[in-house]
Amino acid sequence: MIKKIGVFTSGGDAPGMNAAIRAVVRTAAFYEREVVGIRHGFQGLIDNDIVPLDSKSVRNILARGGTILKSARCMDFHTKEGRAKAYENLKNAEVDALVCIGGNGSFTGLTTFYKEFGIPCVGLPGTIDNDLFGTDFTLGYDTATNTVVDCVDNLRDTASSHNRLFFVEVMGRDSGFIALRTAVATGAMGVILPEENATFDELSNSIERANINKKTSNIVIVSEGNKLGTPYEIAAQVRQKFPEMDIKVTILGHLQRGGKPSCYDRVLASKLGVEAVEALLNGKTDIMVGVVENKTVHTFLGQAIQNSAPINHELMRISKILSI
Ligand code: F6P
Repeated sequence: MIKKIGVFTSGGDAPGMNAAIRAVVRTAAFYEREVVGIRHGFQGLIDNDIVPLDSKSVRNILARGGTILKSARCMDFHTKEGRAKAYENLKNAEVDALVCIGGNGSFTGLTTFYKEFGIPCVGLPGTIDNDLFGTDFTLGYDTATNTVVDCVDNLRDTASSHNRLFFVEVMGRDSGFIALRTAVATGAMGVILPEENATFDELSNSIERANINKKTSNIVIVSEGNKLGTPYEIAAQVRQKFPEMDIKVTILGHLQRGGKPSCYDRVLASKLGVEAVEALLNGKTDIMVGVVENKTVHTFLGQAIQNSAPINHELMRISKILSI
């Protein structure tokens, strides 16, 4: 019987994490269960940084970016001693189950912990990267891509005023979901993804075509983790081949992780928060809750982290057709 649930956020923060914390706490209250928040992710489990949460303590956080519980990437949890300490703290706090809001790395720690100590646990996908198998959307992805679109629209204004080519680096670590979606949404001339072997020749062909078509502004979205190089390296190569062109580089960086969650992310967080608690109360464990084709689904954590989330080849084709 689960009486007390521990909730925490882990890894890179993502807009919508607060909305998910709220949903977990309120659903538990609805079913008359207690909730504690674990601060700073897995580090808080090891350091016993555990605070009580109730319906009132999650008032007015639905619309806030970041995470009120703080987040961290925790090296100590990679050790058996760290995990044993975490288990001891959870036992002392009488926590019977865990909800972890995080990404790939966090779920790796979570499933290991479950296998070692048997505390029921559910993962709720929270990362701007959208790189988890078993969900069409991760929390924060929609908001982050909207932020990128706003920034690139602004760059477009200045790019076309000066007839410039911009290389814009977006996040994603080693997956190109943010890059591909925002390339289509901003009408980018090109997109360089980690999942594809983009070549410099392809890029120069696109630039030549844009020059022939007398385009006055050009945007190339460069994903983190791509194989062609950093946007500075790519820009340097392009400058050599097209010395007459005015080329700039913009790295959007952590701007993409902040800000209030979009309507989509708030609704997703609310759905998944309810589902996570109900799944635990129905005896489910070692799973991630996600949405596939608008339906809530469960995927074993091991699968969510091992199977790679496929890139949308149709969107890639669309991006190519429309960039002429
Ligand atoms: O996983 C989310 C993410 O924002 C990636 O897109 C990025 O590569 C990474 O985290 C940056 O991590 P940090 O904020 O720890 O430097």
